[in-house]
Amino acid sequence: MKKFVIIGLLIFNTVHAAGDAIAGKDKAIHCISCHNIDGNSIIPIYPKLAGQHEMYLIKVMKAYRDKIRDVPSMYTIAKKYFNNDNDIEDLAAHFAAQKPDSCIEPTIEVTANKIESCTICHQPDGNSVLPFFPKLAGQHKEYLIKAMQNYKNGSRRDPQMSQMALLFGDDSNIENIATYFANQKSNTCE
Ligand code: HEC
Ligand code: HEC
Repeated sequence: MKKFVIIGLLIFNTVHAAGDAIAGKDKAIHCISCHNIDGNSIIPIYPKLAGQHEMYLIKVMKAYRDKIRDVPSMYTIAKKYFNNDNDIEDLAAHFAAQKPDSCIEPTIEVTANKIESCTICHQPDGNSVLPFFPKLAGQHKEYLIKAMQNYKNGSRRDPQMSQMALLFGDDSNIENIATYFANQKSNTCE
């Protein structure tokens, strides 16, 4: 009996959390200048959102809104567009459903040191399976470097990543890891 209740709750939560990707596309016009309409941002300091896990995108937008991920340059955007949970869910559904542009096999050979400790959550090729671990495959190298530096210097905090940051090593190792994941092919390509 208890099992049924739990399953029922899970289904309810899933249905409830499902955003409307069509509505999300309209709302995404406010994101175009930095992330592009399909989430394949061209400027490397703006993360790609295309094909990212929906659950992670939702979590992050709420984290900007509530300043858990405290990034001053995101304050205005968060205030305007991440104010409402429905908008967040619609935006996340839209971007998660887009096809990433990192669909070609890597042309350069990269070997990253120290990625063994990352693979349990992010997978060896950065295509993390569990929806609360962000995909790193095909993400912009510059953005990945910045994210790792921010975990390392404490300006971005997360219970898991703040611990992992102790294993990043020096700047050249961080660059090496970022280059490796940025050059992996997304698994959401056909
Ligand atoms: C002026 C440029 C700009 C605009 C417009 C913008 N963003 Fe961003 N976005 C950024 C930057 C810069 C970051 C990285 C910030 C950081 O270091 O946390 C970011 C990060 C994100 C992330 C986190 C990605 C990750 O991998 O953790 C999400 C999700 C996101 N933006 C969604 C949106 C959505 C949805 C919109 C439109 C409603 C939007 N952004 C509009 C600049 C922008
Ligand atoms: C125990 C699970 C776990 C392990 C192991 C782990 N990560 Fe993460 N990683 C996460 C989670 C959870 C997040 C999202 C945290 C947040 O919201 O800031 C994340 C986020 C990231 C991000 C930011 C992605 C984005 O889109 O902003 C990078 C980069 C990253 N991890 C790199 C690594 C590297 C490199 C390693 C290995 C040294 C590693 N991670 C090991 C769980 C893990």
